[in-house]
This record gives sequence, C-alpha cells and structure tokens, in this order.
Amino acid sequence: MTIAASAPAQQTVQSSPQPAAAKIFPYPLDAWYVAAWDHEVTAKTPLARTVAGKPLALFRDQDGQPAALADACWHRLAPLSQGKLLGNGEIQCPYHGLQYNAAGRCTHMPAQETINPSAVVPSYPAVERYRYVWVWVGDPEKADPDQIPDMHQMSSSEWAGDGETITADCNYQLILDNLMDLTHEEFVHSSSIGQDELSESDFDTSHDGQTVTVSRWMYDIDAPPFWLKNMRDKFPGFDGKVDRWQIIHYQYPGTICIDVGVAAAGTGAPEGDRSQGVNGFVMNTITPIDLETSHYFWAFMRNYCLDSQRITTQLRQGVHGVFKEDEDMLRAQQEAIRANPDHEFYSLSIDAGGMWVRRILDEALAAEGRSGSEKK
Ligand code: FES
Repeated sequence: MTIAASAPAQQTVQSSPQPAAAKIFPYPLDAWYVAAWDHEVTAKTPLARTVAGKPLALFRDQDGQPAALADACWHRLAPLSQGKLLGNGEIQCPYHGLQYNAAGRCTHMPAQETINPSAVVPSYPAVERYRYVWVWVGDPEKADPDQIPDMHQMSSSEWAGDGETITADCNYQLILDNLMDLTHEEFVHSSSIGQDELSESDFDTSHDGQTVTVSRWMYDIDAPPFWLKNMRDKFPGFDGKVDRWQIIHYQYPGTICIDVGVAAAGTGAPEGDRSQGVNGFVMNTITPIDLETSHYFWAFMRNYCLDSQRITTQLRQGVHGVFKEDEDMLRAQQEAIRANPDHEFYSLSIDAGGMWVRRILDEALAAEGRSGSEKK
C-alpha cells in the first residue's frame, strides 16, 4: 500500500501506521462477532447463519439462553438449522432424528438405544448483549465476554432507536474503511448528510491496541438536510448555522459506533454542552460471512424525543436510504477488486483511521499464526 497524497494543510493526522499491502482481507477467529439480533434467535425455530466462515444453527435452550452449534449433524452432516426445536431446549436433526443439547452432545438416537459417545457437534460460546447475540468461533478457551465491544446505547433507557441488517456483497474490511472515513458522505450521500465542509475540516486520529478514534468538528456551517430535519423535530422552526461533529470509535474486531450530531452554532457543543443540539449514535457492527460477503448490523440511536415512534421510524427509513447508497458502492468496489486482482490499494491521509484498524486486525491475525495478506 502506498501513501499517494499528503494531508491537506488543515488536517492534523497525529500519526500514521506503516503501509500494508493486503487487498483480500482475512478475518480473525478469536473474536466476538454479532450473529443475530436478539429477537431472531428463538426457542421455536432454529436460525441458520454463517459467522466468519462457520455455518451455525442458532437457538435458545430451555433457560432462554442463546446456543450456537455447527450446522452439520454428526451422523451425515444434515443441517441442524433445518431441524426442530424440542420443548426441552434441544434440537433434532431433520434427517434421522438425532437430538442434541445446547452443548452439542447427542442425547437421543431414535434407531438405537445406546448413544455413541463420539456423537457430538461443535458448540460455540454465545452471549446475548446490547440486543444482539454474539458468538465466538475461535479458541473457546479465549472467549471472554468482557471483551464484547461496548454498544450500551443499544439497550439504555437514555437512548431510543432501531436498525436493520444488510447482507453486504463485500469483504468486511471494505465496510470498516467506509465507516472510518466519512468524507465519502460528500460524494456518496450528497442529498442527505453530505457537505463540502467534510473534506475541508480538521480531523484527529488516536488509537490503542483494540480501538481507533477519528474525531472531526465542523463549525458554523449550514446543516445538511438530514440534520436540519432532526433539529426541527427537537426545536420547531430552527433556522441558522450549526456546529457539527462526527466522532468515529472503532472497537476490535468489527464494531464502529459513531457519535454524530449538530448544535446551534456557538452554543458550546465542542466544550461539552450539547443541549442546544441533536445527538445520535450510529451503531455499526460488521460480521464476516466469508471473504466477499458480510453481515452488516446497524442501528441509529438518539437521546432526544425518546417516546416518539414516528421519529424512530423516520430515522430508520432515512438511514436505510443512506446506507443503500453505501451498499451499492461497496458491491461495485468488491466487483472491481475481483476484476483487478493485481491492483494494490493506495491510501490517502483520510485513510489514517482505517489503516490503524487494519493494523489491529493484522496483529490479531498474527497472534493466530495467520497473515493479514493471506489469499483465498
Ligand atoms: Fe442427522 Fe442422520 S444426518 S441424524
């Protein structure tokens, strides 16, 4: 990877990672990934979902806890996700009826009385948190729920909102790149949240071993249509300049929560008083399916007009439209990668955040004895 342009004069990139040459980006396995929204995982019907290359059958046991088993029966590999959930919290294979508990151990073989002790399917750690079911498909000894990324706004009474899932036709790191640099809004989302000041304004990048933060403030500007509407939901008739912020916070392996908003210009938002503005968190968490497709779970949470279902619905629909534009761009980008397998990526100063994310992921892959530039 080559740095192809220097930072515009106003930008204050604090530091830059070393360039990396990977273009087909593998995913770590020792990591918590979201497999599903909490409501998708039930005790009535198994859910088939592939996480980091592992096809899983997801369901709830008799205590209501989520369970994740390999989606292949011990006997002849029939998909357990097409089977039945029994009232006792177990799952029955759809082919010859073998039954498994949430730990993956076979508890019943209809055609014989004795159970072969080797009759087990792999089970994976699964935790319900922040309205999602998270799974760990790597070394189970390393699965520490305390390492689940912080997405507390999703389940806090101080925030309201909703979201959706996109099945994105691209490698997961293309989505992380997209979210770590929001100057693309000026070009991809010009009718909603884009504006010239995005690429003209200062930004700062900071990082540690598991997180990267990119902060950008734009002062005394016109609010773009999306934000003007939201200001008027909270402050009817609002008309005037705003201070706008975007604070992008990445957490390993694939979660990016973006603190976004605008406030009436000069009312103290940069110093911490956001009372004269509207504030949202764009909650994104990306789960690789394979090297060229990803589950993209997103939600928009706000801390104003908490009881308004109208605003929740309008925001979800608005963000849906914005993200559809990203989805189309990411698919086209993946197709171009396929058509240009030898072309290396180049990085600009705006890519500083995304490059630090790549560095963290490369280090995680190295810890698993793998390379960040490995190919299919
Ligand atoms: Fe599952 Fe035969 S394949 S019981």
